[in-house]
Amino acid sequence: MKKLRIGIIGCGTIGSALARAVERRFSKHAHLAYIAELDRPKADRLIHSLKAKPLLLSIAQLVKRSDFIIEAASAKISGGIAHSALKRNKEILVMSVGGLLASFSSLERILKCTKGTLYIPSGAVAGIDAVLASREGKIRSATLITRKPPAGLRGAPFFKTSKIKLERVRKETLIFEGNVIQAVKAFPKNVNVSALLALAGIGPRKTKVRLYTSPKYTKNSHEIIVEGDCGVVHTRTDNMPSKENPKTSALAIRSAEALLTKVFSRFKVGT
Ligand SMILES: NC(=O)c1ccc[n+]([C@@H]2O[C@H](COP(=O)([O-])OP(=O)(O)OC[C@H]3O[C@@H](n4cnc5c(N)ncnc54)[C@H](O)[C@@H]3O)[C@@H](O)[C@H]2O)c1
Repeated sequence: MKKLRIGIIGCGTIGSALARAVERRFSKHAHLAYIAELDRPKADRLIHSLKAKPLLLSIAQLVKRSDFIIEAASAKISGGIAHSALKRNKEILVMSVGGLLASFSSLERILKCTKGTLYIPSGAVAGIDAVLASREGKIRSATLITRKPPAGLRGAPFFKTSKIKLERVRKETLIFEGNVIQAVKAFPKNVNVSALLALAGIGPRKTKVRLYTSPKYTKNSHEIIVEGDCGVVHTRTDNMPSKENPKTSALAIRSAEALLTKVFSRFKVGT
């Protein structure tokens, strides 16, 4: 069988880990053919470290030439990339999930006629399997409670207008409460998990988010509470922040690797 040509957009913490995983673990099925990255030296370092020597392309060229695209760049561009990949009947895995929400209704229209597939890994949270199963019945409410150390929130647009100053936070503080649409605008790099929960469950308007921070936190923690016909799904995941990027949990990288394993495997466990 012909190997899939993989293209990775964004070669930061997640993208470079997945590039190495494709080379190490999925070489029977796939070949890392292309990358797209704004930071040229970073791209060169990654290419140098890989046997595959992927070509550095523009995003448009990468989407055109790849069979399977991995987006690990930014919520600002993930929606547009998903649209163009699916219009070209490509397979695409999206990490910047929050970026899909703004144009999700047009994405749903494309999904009805594409021969491609949109994959969204479970990321840094446990329980998406049970939320999907609950949705087959009725879900009455869905809430995400996220706890992140200040370093994992720094730079978020929320702080441009908020009176809360992260460096002055001394104890556990509720810094944000709202729905997922508001959360992804305020924290586009920090609450992809909320967008994921919304897409798996009852949508971004009805899914609630509470975000806490404290200098005492050492982990990125996510609690899901979903109530419906099947009962209550209540999970908590305490994640080690990745060494390279404290906004990103190590489990999010593993979750994308696990999804790729599932894509290439004849043995698929879990909903
Ligand atoms: N789904 C999840 O559970 C989850 C978890 C963590 C992070 N994320 C998201 O995944 C994405 C990647 O995370 P990361 O930790 O690897 O981030 P990172 O900052 O380490 O890497 C992102 C890389 O993308 C590049 N980039 C940004 N915009 C680009 C563009 N327009 N074209 C080409 N390259 C571009 C940057 O230069 C950088 O090298 C982020 O959007 C992040 O919010 C999702």
